Amino acid sequence: MLPKEQNELLTRTGPGTLMGDLIRRYWVPALLSEEISKPDCPPARVRIMGEELVAFRDSRGRIGLIAEHCSHRGTSLYYGRNENGGVTCIYHGWKYDVDGNVLETPAEPPESDFRKKLYHPAYPTHEAAGIVFAYLGPKDKMPLFPSYEWMQVPLEQTYVTKALLECNYLQGLEGECDSSHLSFLHRAFDASPGQRLYQLDTSPVYETEETDFGVRMIALRKVPPDQQYVRVSSFVMPLSGCIPAGGRTGELDGFEVHSYVPADDTHAWRYDFGFKRSRPVREEEVHRRKQIGPDYRRIRNMRNDYLQDREMQRSRNFTGIEDFLNHDACATESMGPIFDRSKEHLGVSDKALIAVRRYLLRVVKDFQEGNAPPHLVYEGAHNRFPHVDSIAEVIPANVTWREHFGHLTETATVENRLAARSVRKVS
Ligand code: FES
Ligand SMILES: [Fe+2]
Repeated sequence: MLPKEQNELLTRTGPGTLMGDLIRRYWVPALLSEEISKPDCPPARVRIMGEELVAFRDSRGRIGLIAEHCSHRGTSLYYGRNENGGVTCIYHGWKYDVDGNVLETPAEPPESDFRKKLYHPAYPTHEAAGIVFAYLGPKDKMPLFPSYEWMQVPLEQTYVTKALLECNYLQGLEGECDSSHLSFLHRAFDASPGQRLYQLDTSPVYETEETDFGVRMIALRKVPPDQQYVRVSSFVMPLSGCIPAGGRTGELDGFEVHSYVPADDTHAWRYDFGFKRSRPVREEEVHRRKQIGPDYRRIRNMRNDYLQDREMQRSRNFTGIEDFLNHDACATESMGPIFDRSKEHLGVSDKALIAVRRYLLRVVKDFQEGNAPPHLVYEGAHNRFPHVDSIAEVIPANVTWREHFGHLTETATVENRLAARSVRKVS
């Protein structure tokens, strides 16, 4: 259980809030590249942490992320014309470039230099892995863009989806720190090897450890007679969970990163990014794409009770709802827009989630006291993260996960990680 003040602290992310200011110190996903797919295409609406923005790709392919409302009298630039190097407001023709400069004010007299005195808010962006990331913090504190493994692989070895979650971001994020729900919420009544592993042991033993990037979470399930199923997940500052994808249910090749970016305090954008280390991704593998409409809203949502099918619930799976994306959404949205965590009763199975909350509360407090937040990189030499990995594997019961996955230690280099995993090197 979390006292009300701490719940407020962690869930409020608008401008000027402590958590909001903390998250703004990191690069966060702002939109998918496909939303502004070509130069001069229509602008896209972007909502992040209560801020109303528009993104556009100018005639030269540069990306702009600027305040949505025109600096003149507030008309939305979403409706604007994106052409000839900027977005033009449809009301009186004020034109903006990607840096927020006002290029033209054609309703003003030709000799007016009024526009040069204006500042229209604009944020730096960085495009990688099919995602446009943004930095919304103070300009003098901007870190390097982090060079994670999943951003280095060729685009055809990756996939990404975006879907609106209709509740506070922390409810979504906490679902990534909770391995035990896999045995229930995502249970299918079939005999696949992966399902068997979850059902053999529904109350895993958890270990957690704080790292330089956040919290590593390990769930250990018994596999009789002499093995154990290990799942290593990571909470990565500030908004992401890295979770194993494949493993015994598929192939041990890459993992997924699920990020929950607050749109406002009662909505979040869930980005599911996945990659394969060794091969291109096949479209049919990204089954969750079928669950999301063109507006990035899920087809199964709270207004249609996630199209729950009680017959399916009797005969096919635990929920009667199709696809894990909707399972997670139903479980977390049905808590309400911002769950009051003073009402919860946490058990042993919530150990990882408790560790992540404790870590976040300490980081927020440190930040409030003027200390630099963790996992921000300002020097190229430190911009590699081989130990941000995520694994699902059955190993002998008499070996510890730490012995078995030596590359997870913080001091691991890229080289010993590659040697440990025998995976293809990515540049
Ligand atoms: S409101 Fe945009 S130009 Fe007047
Ligand atoms: Fe889940």
